[in-house]
Amino acid sequence: MSLTSRRTFLKNSPMLAIGLLNFPQLILADKCLITPNQTEGPFYPLNFPSDSDQDLTRVAGHSSIALGEKILIMGRVITPDCIPLKGAKVEIWQACASGRYDHEFDGNSAPIDPNFQYWGLFITKNDGQYSFLTIKPGSYPVTTNWRRPPHIHFKVKIPHQSPLITQLYFTEETQLNRQDRILQRIPSQQRKLVMTELIYNQSLMMRVGKFNIILGEQYADNRTPYLG
Ligand SMILES: [Fe+2]
Repeated sequence: MSLTSRRTFLKNSPMLAIGLLNFPQLILADKCLITPNQTEGPFYPLNFPSDSDQDLTRVAGHSSIALGEKILIMGRVITPDCIPLKGAKVEIWQACASGRYDHEFDGNSAPIDPNFQYWGLFITKNDGQYSFLTIKPGSYPVTTNWRRPPHIHFKVKIPHQSPLITQLYFTEETQLNRQDRILQRIPSQQRKLVMTELIYNQSLMMRVGKFNIILGEQYADNRTPYLG
């Protein structure tokens, strides 16, 4: 396969190409720092879309794709003991490129993108791996002097435990991150645990952000990894 056709193949089949990437490495046993919980916010779906896969850039039955910069978010779900969890249910939800949620509580006048999936689900595989193909979310106003930085909401569930609910931010959004009242609630030394740097990947022809999720208190009652 020529380089050009290989790139065309990868561009058309990005989820297949993820196998070519290196997932974030497991962290040394004494450094599995627990991912901070953050507020769920008001926009967790009331109704889940019928299309619930890991590719949020396309909606089943639509011929067009979502607006905005296509990105890949990938990582592992790990216990505080640094053991990867197979079978964890990872949900994400986020605004589209314009900064609008597809949610009845969102009063933002920015346009909805009918070709964006807004919510996705992934059950972790061997080594706790998950990935989502999505778009970089837009920022949106909360008050006249507070604009939320681009972020992706995460909810991670394992059986018989409370879910970990958090939000992922982008290192490049320096100013909005610094002004964000939700991100700034996290102690400064822990903030880097919910940040990702988007790095361009030549093969996928898009930027990739890596985010390991380390379960904490909600996992404390049962240290046996869920492998079912
Ligand atoms: Fe949000």
